[in-house]
Amino acid sequence: MDNENKKAALMKAAIEAKELAYAPYSRFSVGAAVMCDDGTFYTGCNIENASYPCGICAERTAVSKAVSEGKRKFRMIAVTGSSAEKCTPCGICRQFLYEFAPEMVVLCGDKDGAFDEIALSELLPRGFGASSL
Ligand code: THU
Repeated sequence: MDNENKKAALMKAAIEAKELAYAPYSRFSVGAAVMCDDGTFYTGCNIENASYPCGICAERTAVSKAVSEGKRKFRMIAVTGSSAEKCTPCGICRQFLYEFAPEMVVLCGDKDGAFDEIALSELLPRGFGASSL
């Protein structure tokens, strides 16, 4: 599969993951799919909670699933929300992604899968990492 097809497949996986979102409070569903360096995909959705700050974003769900199964190297993540606007990761998710893959690429998609490709380093310039400690 060439790189463009991989991006489209990753976004498709994010769109499918969005269907599983648990978002009764915001009614804003988000799906994410992260591609590991070995080419495997892990998906996630946002999971809200009646205690609002307990909720977790789709990106962190996907990356947590991957890390908890032994994956730590990521190439790309696709994110899509339930609006016509292309969904960019929130600030906490940018930092969460930076920990594992400061060089990664983020595919920011709209509800239909059209996306912009943005480097995490552009979304989070001068991020805080292990070398900052
Ligand atoms: N959300 C995500 O899942 N990812 C983002 O990067 C943006 C926000 C979720 C959190 C919350 O459940 C809903 O979208 C509205 O903010």
